[in-house]
Amino acid sequence: MDSFENNRQSWNELTTLHIDSDFYNVAGFRQGKSSLKHIEIQELGEIGGKSLLHLQCHFGLDTLSLARQGAKVVGVDISDTSIQKATELAGELKIPAKFIRSNVYDIENVLDDTFDIVYTSYGAMNWLNDLDAWAKIINGYLKPGGIFYMVEFHPFIYTLNNKAEIADSYFKSKPLESVVEHSYTDKSRVSKRNLKHLEWHHSLSEVVNSLIANGLTIEFLNEFPYQVYNCFPNLKEVESGKWVSEKYGEKIPHMFSIKAKKVGSDSL
Ligand SMILES: C[S@@+](CC[C@H](N)C(=O)[O-])C[C@H]1O[C@@H](n2cnc3c(N)ncnc32)[C@H](O)[C@@H]1O
Repeated sequence: MDSFENNRQSWNELTTLHIDSDFYNVAGFRQGKSSLKHIEIQELGEIGGKSLLHLQCHFGLDTLSLARQGAKVVGVDISDTSIQKATELAGELKIPAKFIRSNVYDIENVLDDTFDIVYTSYGAMNWLNDLDAWAKIINGYLKPGGIFYMVEFHPFIYTLNNKAEIADSYFKSKPLESVVEHSYTDKSRVSKRNLKHLEWHHSLSEVVNSLIANGLTIEFLNEFPYQVYNCFPNLKEVESGKWVSEKYGEKIPHMFSIKAKKVGSDSL
């Protein structure tokens, strides 16, 4: 089975678990609560009326939250279950949105359009093996002057083991294969089957350079000394919605964000 097929199947199973999790709080979302965090809300700014492509949208909570802010959204994800659930939620809550099931790398077979904004967030990069191809795709879907925005877990975090020791290289050359036993949303066992995940971790320079090499001008790169999701081991909450490493506190980077612009004449 190829890597992406493995990941598609495991994400189908994880999505089923995530829909009912406290972590994703679908009940709150149904009542109007946004799933977006303060960072992307502030850094993205006004998105009303703008067309937005959300890559790796999972089951659509962030995509639909962006739609509630007035963006005209399209969400893409490799997981059939994610796309099915996202489509159901949009229909149930009457939020205009389009969801497409596709591997990011095959998206050009199913989507022929350009957007004001291409967006991706938290826990997306590590499922992609080829950042150069990824950045080319982003560029291809942006209108001239369009904005690419991402907010992600900092790659340094993936060097730490469960005891918060630096156990793995920051500069990873090989894919990481793991058996999926638990989700980050709860500790119950995912499946009796041996579900496998294939991940690729990328250094910050790899991410930035792939965007620069593919026609995007970096407007900012920010690093954050905390997480907005409690989804890594050994974190402690220091204020509502902010978690830091128990061992290193705010001395290490936990997340980063990038805003970049497609070189072109139109401005947003
Ligand atoms: C941790 S979730 C991202 C959650 C995201 N922050 C959100 O908006 O909810 C990662 C998502 O990436 C998707 N994914 C993994 N590999 C992919 C690929 N090659 N192409 C498209 N989606 C992919 C998974 O199905 C999953 O829904």
